[in-house]
Amino acid sequence: MNRSKGPGTKAEPRRAPPGERSARERGLMIQVRGLARSFTLRGQTVDAVRGIDFDVAAGELVGFLGPNGAGKTTTLRMLTTLLRPTRGSGTVAGCDLLADPQGVRRRIGYVAQGGSAWPESKVGEEIELQARLYGLSKTEARQRGALLAERLDLSGLDQRLAKTLSGGQRRRLDIALGMVHEPDLVFLDEPTSGLDPQSRANLWDHVRRMRAEQGMTVFLTTHYLDEADALCDRILVTDEGTIVAEGTPDELKDRVAGDSVTVEVADRVAEAAEVACGLPGAHEVTVVAETVRFRVPRGDAALPDLLRALDSHRITMTSVKVNRPTLDDVFLGLTGRSLRDGEAATPVTEATHAA
Ligand SMILES: Nc1ncnc2c1ncn2[C@@H]1O[C@H](COP(=O)(O)OP(=O)(O)O)[C@@H](O)[C@H]1O
Ligand SMILES: [Mg+2]
Repeated sequence: MNRSKGPGTKAEPRRAPPGERSARERGLMIQVRGLARSFTLRGQTVDAVRGIDFDVAAGELVGFLGPNGAGKTTTLRMLTTLLRPTRGSGTVAGCDLLADPQGVRRRIGYVAQGGSAWPESKVGEEIELQARLYGLSKTEARQRGALLAERLDLSGLDQRLAKTLSGGQRRRLDIALGMVHEPDLVFLDEPTSGLDPQSRANLWDHVRRMRAEQGMTVFLTTHYLDEADALCDRILVTDEGTIVAEGTPDELKDRVAGDSVTVEVADRVAEAAEVACGLPGAHEVTVVAETVRFRVPRGDAALPDLLRALDSHRITMTSVKVNRPTLDDVFLGLTGRSLRDGEAATPVTEATHAA
């Protein structure tokens, strides 16, 4: 295979720095360098993805987390060879993205954001047809369909039309269709978008189980903080076409300097703020109306000191909340904006202690 002259290669792939071992040598399922894609529409250029570098190890479950328009789908479409990068290079499932797109396609599964099940077809037929498309015999296709239906909780639905399924069932059918050929690597674009909280948690269980049972690598995009937090081994935080942070959910949260404490007092809020300032390790003390907010390294450890200090100043506290840092705090710290703006389906959960 001649890697430097892939079919229709326009952009010159960025070469790996001398001494960098290949993706295969490092046991990587995905390795991309300088991957970028721009679109030109009516003379206006949109830089959807602006040169990203990242690696995904075999067996990892990695989330690409970012707000709508961040470039997640564009990245996924490049990784699945559906869209040609404007520049950059990559290896996906052991094949060169530019020189061997057919090899990439054979080894991956892709579940698109909008799904791929034909609404008028029956569930069983749809899975079997997809399996036949990948070259399985009729008997193999039927067996594979039955196994996938069982694993994805679709058993007994084979005669149902796809359009009559619930949102969660439909999404599980989409996943079954992306997995009929037992790929080593599966891409899921916004797998739980639009589902109710219960169906979302159920789908996470299925993704975890499929990963554990089949040892496959999963790369998913999401704009849900809780999804990235609960499901992913590692998260690539993305915004405006670049990767702004990367790490396990805990590593990312550790970047935020401590827990946030919110205290509401009946009166003398300025004095309460002074009390907060006097607590060991307190910082970022702010006052809004009758509420004092600050950060401390450990909120639960600071609480008794705070209560004692307010009491000795005879300040009446009406409520206090301690929040562990969230991925939203991480995103806010990195970009100055909240990811929650686009996250209507997720309730904000806080440990609230009424005084
Ligand atoms: N085919 C296209 N033509 C023009 N602009 C596009 C096209 N696809 C995506 N974009 C633009 O690229 C940016 C990133 O889009 P997308 O990758 O779909 O983001 P996400 O999946 O993170 O919501 C957006 O500004 C979007 O409007
Ligand atoms: Mg998208």
